[in-house]
Amino acid sequence: MIRDSFHSRIGFVLAAAGSAIGLGNIWGFPTNAANNGGGAFLFVYLIVTFLLALPALYAEIYIGNQAQKNPVSALGEACTENLPRFGRAMGKAGLCGAIMMLSFYTIVAGWMLSHALSSLSALAGFSELSVWLATDNTTRNLVFTPIFIILGASIVHQGVHGGIEKWSSRLMPLLLLMLIGLIIYILQQDGAMEGLRTYLIPDFSQVTDPTLVISAMGQAFFSLSIGVGGMMVYGSYMAKDKDIGKLVLSIGALDTFIAFLAGLLIIPALFVAQYAGQQVFANEKLIGEGQLIFQILPTLFSSMGTIGLVVATGFFSLLSIAALTSTISSTEVPVSYLVEEKSMSRRKATWLISAIVFSASMTLIAFFDVLFGFVIRVLTTIVQPLSCLFYFIVVGWLWNRGNKLKDKARLDANKWLSLWGNYLGIACPILLTVVFVNVAF
Ligand code: PFF
Repeated sequence: MIRDSFHSRIGFVLAAAGSAIGLGNIWGFPTNAANNGGGAFLFVYLIVTFLLALPALYAEIYIGNQAQKNPVSALGEACTENLPRFGRAMGKAGLCGAIMMLSFYTIVAGWMLSHALSSLSALAGFSELSVWLATDNTTRNLVFTPIFIILGASIVHQGVHGGIEKWSSRLMPLLLLMLIGLIIYILQQDGAMEGLRTYLIPDFSQVTDPTLVISAMGQAFFSLSIGVGGMMVYGSYMAKDKDIGKLVLSIGALDTFIAFLAGLLIIPALFVAQYAGQQVFANEKLIGEGQLIFQILPTLFSSMGTIGLVVATGFFSLLSIAALTSTISSTEVPVSYLVEEKSMSRRKATWLISAIVFSASMTLIAFFDVLFGFVIRVLTTIVQPLSCLFYFIVVGWLWNRGNKLKDKARLDANKWLSLWGNYLGIACPILLTVVFVNVAF
């Protein structure tokens, strides 16, 4: 069977950026930053992204690209001479991570969708419907989460070129413009400057706080879609031996810039809301498991008058699309495995995985208070970092077959390549382990 693939380099970059840029940037990053001291979080986030997350992204794409196979086979093959079973087991762990990610992501994406429709129905004059759509309630989750799962599935089952490449990232420049416009607006409101200071001036006494460091690392891995095989599977759909370093830098720069801008909007917006008398923090933490942003943003939009409704509709629609392009890369991980290894048709695999995601997200909705935050923490602070540790070791040490980093002649000819190999194989695993040990003790 001929594997589907991206038809161009730019197709890959757009799809990978589409996977990276999503709710993690606009909802996850500002929530985490607000909960962890603002500037201190931003400072550590940038360092961790540069030192660990970008190298991990390189390693993940590299493994997939060399293998030209789904993540389970790619990791199994990467460990052929050593522990192929272990490699495959790690691939399957990533696959479970992708399903975990989808179980909560589709819920949050459903919130985006319902907020977009809420502003639209307010514009159309259906004010009761609009209020219901903007109010957090279980029925709303039960309606919008499945709608979102079906939307994602209907793109994935069309395949890589026809579905994923075509859909990814076309509307991202619009999101960027909208963010900038909103930042300019919010910075003129009372209370915004205090938010800006909190966000941009780090309190250095906090930067060594283990909880902050592990949250920043988890956030960076999540934001760049690494550690569950999403980028590996995209790397496998790209023609072999492209300059992965350059691709990684452009994806990383785009993703980090959007997260930074989202912080520049949301953190001042939180302080503006607080200035206006809304309760935002309790014990220095944001109230309400990340849902607060969905109360703050509509307040911000409604302060703009009728035009605010148009802006809100556009903003939440774009966020829904950004969430969709992230959802499809995560769904592609188990789907590619079922198609390639279990000889299932793409259509059947997509709907099977969607059914599993549906059950998982319904369980999360049923036990929201206990499970929602817990699943996010387990995924971002345990599953993703451990997978990345494994990728580093695979690329740095184990992989001999066609591995540039182990190719003696090439290494001798290129000192930078050899330095990079050592950085990935030795420095990164040590750094990651140090973070873990620090958190544990
Ligand atoms: N990077 C995405 C975001 O920031 O919203 C989330 C994500 C997508 C994580 C795909 C993992 C993944 F495989």
